[in-house]
Amino acid sequence: METKVFIVAGGPGDAELMTLKGQRIIDSADLIFFSTRFTPQEMFSNTKSSCKFYDSFAYSYDEKLQLVKEAVSKKQITAFVTMGDPCLYGMIGGLTDRFENEQIDYEVIPGVSSFNAATALLKRGMTGLGLPNTAICTTLRDREDGEEYFNLVAALGASLAIFMSVELLDRVIHVLKKYYPMTTPVVVICRATWQEQQIAQGNLLTISDLVSEQKITDGLILVGEFIDKEYDYVLEKEFTERKKKEAAEREAAGKNK
Ligand SMILES: C[S@@+](CC[C@H](N)C(=O)[O-])C[C@H]1O[C@@H](n2cnc3c(N)ncnc32)[C@H](O)[C@@H]1O
Repeated sequence: METKVFIVAGGPGDAELMTLKGQRIIDSADLIFFSTRFTPQEMFSNTKSSCKFYDSFAYSYDEKLQLVKEAVSKKQITAFVTMGDPCLYGMIGGLTDRFENEQIDYEVIPGVSSFNAATALLKRGMTGLGLPNTAICTTLRDREDGEEYFNLVAALGASLAIFMSVELLDRVIHVLKKYYPMTTPVVVICRATWQEQQIAQGNLLTISDLVSEQKITDGLILVGEFIDKEYDYVLEKEFTERKKKEAAEREAAGKNK
């Protein structure tokens, strides 16, 4: 059976960050569900003239399912275009569970999350030599024990990408300052890769004022030394020497083929 239903990563904003596969599906779709505010319209410039567009937020999951069933019966293609990557802080479970219950074949097309876009804008890796080897996507929202749980996350001292929490920034900082030095760099990026992108860069002590000054109310909070840590050439030397030694040992043991 040829798949007719797709959940497609819409990427962070810049339409060129859509995957080739996602774009091909959009161009061939008969029905497209998308968020009018968070999907760049450029990615719809080659859609079929008969394609119907639906605002994702204007339909319940059951209404979406009904429309999908009708489309499948007509052998039409449906694309649900999500903000960033569908598998992070999205609501794809409401779709995937219904599709499975109804035995509707579907595919999820991964893509660029907003945290990928944000770290690319900073031109920094969240892990690396001399940095924590753990990067965490988290939020202060959506759990009754939100703050208690966030304490556990913060205690790991990892590099953090905090979603959906800019309006809770003061509570975020209140927790983080128990585990990270006040000089720890923090960046808040709103609408990364969109024309109206805003960036506030400071540290745990200064970020709240900087965000208020720019009137940023949503976006991603990045936290950690990775944001401005000086590159460590000594560690690099140790690392490359170790790797060279390992390669030479593999070569000597004839394991390079
Ligand atoms: C419902 S979540 C969706 C996350 C999405 N699935 C992703 O992979 O980026 C919405 C949150 O994602 C973050 N976000 C999404 N797009 C963003 C962008 N272009 N710039 C900054 N943050 C963004 C913000 O934290 C926002 O509150």
